[in-house]
Amino acid sequence: MLMSPPVDLTYERFQQLQLRLDMSRGKPSPEQLDLSQALIDEAGQAGYLARDGFDCRNYGLPSGLPEARELGAELLGVPAAQVIAAGNSSLELMHDALTFALLHGVPAGEGAGAPWRAQGEIAFLCPAPGYDRHFAICEALGVRMIAVPMREDGPDMDRVEALVRDDPSIKGMWCVPLYSNPTGAIWSDDAIRRLAAMPAAPDFRLFWDDAYRFHHLTEEAHATLDVFEACAAAGHAERALMFASLSKVTFGGGAFAWLAAAQRNVAWWQKHAAVRTIGPDKLNQLRHVRFLRDRATLTALMSCHRALLKPKFDAVDEVFRTRLAGVPGVSWNVPRGGYFISLYAPEGCARRTVELAAQAGLILTPAGAAYPYGVDPQDSHLRIAPSFPSLDEVRLAAEGIALSLLRAIDERRQ
Ligand SMILES: Cc1ncc(COP(=O)(O)O)c(C=O)c1O
Repeated sequence: MLMSPPVDLTYERFQQLQLRLDMSRGKPSPEQLDLSQALIDEAGQAGYLARDGFDCRNYGLPSGLPEARELGAELLGVPAAQVIAAGNSSLELMHDALTFALLHGVPAGEGAGAPWRAQGEIAFLCPAPGYDRHFAICEALGVRMIAVPMREDGPDMDRVEALVRDDPSIKGMWCVPLYSNPTGAIWSDDAIRRLAAMPAAPDFRLFWDDAYRFHHLTEEAHATLDVFEACAAAGHAERALMFASLSKVTFGGGAFAWLAAAQRNVAWWQKHAAVRTIGPDKLNQLRHVRFLRDRATLTALMSCHRALLKPKFDAVDEVFRTRLAGVPGVSWNVPRGGYFISLYAPEGCARRTVELAAQAGLILTPAGAAYPYGVDPQDSHLRIAPSFPSLDEVRLAAEGIALSLLRAIDERRQ
């Protein structure tokens, strides 16, 4: 049983507690997963017949169950014909989209652009800090990564425009427009309009990962500008590929994902995806559609998630305010949604903080993970994921992080 940590807790005493705490990955907690237990308990009631009588136990419907595409349309604000309902992971769709582009090219101009891999070395813009698994995809597929600084309202757009303007080898950019992983940024209308309008290679794509579209931590349901409308208005209707999933609505990795895009991009996807699958798991899609029903039901479910998550984010902020407020060079964000807190240490202290935390039984995301190639040039950023552990554990872990950081700062002073 964990107790509230004493005010005079020191790094040594924290170490003596011999805890085993993991604050490294943004996973839903067991209590959050329980919110969707009906998906398992009432699976039989969902049956296997779709609205039109289609037998979901069988092969078919490579673009997904129509009602699963319609739910995506309602939630993503795109016509159902422009939504694919796919397998369990949006990350997988991003990986495949990049692979298809490398191997086959993407629609461009009147026809198809050349395969990206046939165009020499290609590059992606990577707002940093960003999502480590995006960067892992680039690394695995041999796509050069160019880091772009993240601001509170999106990427440094002057830099993005300057880079893209003169370099046709830049074929794409990772974007997490709402509650960015891991900085919590909400991208401004201006940033999105500029992304939509900037001159870039004709086969340039925004990989628009709307992973946290439904994941508000406050009463205010923030939303970002409609990227498809912005792109169409700027004459680049095919620039954005949107990805989203229900992984953090129902079951992490046990739900289904969507790809939404302009019609030609959807046709492109359908053509290439048909080679690698006969169709997704429509039984799971059917269960989800019957469980989630519509935007109102999903919103109600997400407020139950918020009730579980918000106290954990508040606890981290409270501990940091007590221990770290006023420490020179230290700051952190208070996200309005998503799954992460970014803690900034004085330059050169992040790696050591992670080491000290590990020596005290506290697993943190490796320092640098949120940067392309795992290198944070300032060695300053720490990604904190408070969702999974219990509230007591989160509070203790936040103490451990703060104490490890203070110790790392002390060591540098000596
Ligand atoms: C930005 C972002 N995109 C995608 C994912 C993974 O989504 P999925 O479970 O749909 O693959 C995550 C998970 O943490 C994420 O943070």
